[in-house]
Amino acid sequence: MEVLRTLPASWFTNQNVYDMEKRAVFEKSWFLLGPVVRFAEETSVDYEFAGIALHVQKAGEDNFHVTRKSDGRPVPHFLTPTGLLFTAIHPDAAPIFEEYFPPSLLPLLNKHDFRKLPHRRKLSYPGGFNWKTMVDGYQECLHCQYTHREFSAMYPPTFYAVQNEGNISRHFADERLTEVDDGLFLFFFPICTLNRYAGGMTSFRVCPGEKVGESRMEFDYYYLNQKAIDTVNAKAEEQGRQAAEEEIEKAGLEGFEEYYRFVRRVAMEDFELCEVAQSNLERGVYCQGVLNSAKENGVTHYQGLVRERVMVQFKAEQEEKEMKYRVDLAVGASQHGQDVVEVMT
Ligand SMILES: [Fe+2]
Repeated sequence: MEVLRTLPASWFTNQNVYDMEKRAVFEKSWFLLGPVVRFAEETSVDYEFAGIALHVQKAGEDNFHVTRKSDGRPVPHFLTPTGLLFTAIHPDAAPIFEEYFPPSLLPLLNKHDFRKLPHRRKLSYPGGFNWKTMVDGYQECLHCQYTHREFSAMYPPTFYAVQNEGNISRHFADERLTEVDDGLFLFFFPICTLNRYAGGMTSFRVCPGEKVGESRMEFDYYYLNQKAIDTVNAKAEEQGRQAAEEEIEKAGLEGFEEYYRFVRRVAMEDFELCEVAQSNLERGVYCQGVLNSAKENGVTHYQGLVRERVMVQFKAEQEEKEMKYRVDLAVGASQHGQDVVEVMT
């Protein structure tokens, strides 16, 4: 049986590998920006992926302009029928959305209405780790039992499965493998996630920093307590009136702080784990590990995508260099020939 191994530590610590990843992976990828409700209040939002800054402008209902800030050129973007906005970061390097993601993605996303939960909070902070160090942790739940005690009480790790299909991975915390509103975890290769659990929804991105061992964590939180709103409405109806807007808004936010505290704790537990893992990688404590074929299939899968793309890019760049060298040689030789002719005549 083939032994599955992680990417070597150098892929998490070597700047040249990261520079290659920018061209091989990031410029050719799609990124989840979030549900359209993200742009309800802030109608223009700036993003940055692997050194490429983008400006997203809402231009009317379901209409967006996404441009690269360096030169103002538009980049491809895609809005799914149920309201998720994705973007590429290069005007023409990424494949079309429908080719980048598997055909099963839209039917899956269309089962959920992503316009329902309003955007409540955003958060961004630096992390001292390579982007893959965080994605490694997201793509498996072997660490959940000892790292996320509270999370494990809610979603017992006795069952946890990851299904990979091309550039998406679906995580199931429920052995029925059903699509329920609570317990939807999606990974969009290379760095975006969408997590619907504990009554709310979080979308986070592990944006690679300038240096190979740096990242920027970005979170958006969406939440609506529909049950509390229904109760307020029913009560008002009993009293023969319509519930006031402020009452509904207040009810919709009921429980948000508990939800936020819960998901922040999970995120901070992962963050601490990643900082320790990265420092071990940098100190040479760890070179390459063996992966559990069943419980770490999410890690095996996405690392395979990175490896494959980097190797293809490396080969293409090598061939290009070789070709240029040959052309330079040929030009040099003919130039030399010309010089000789000129001297002779
Ligand atoms: Fe975790």
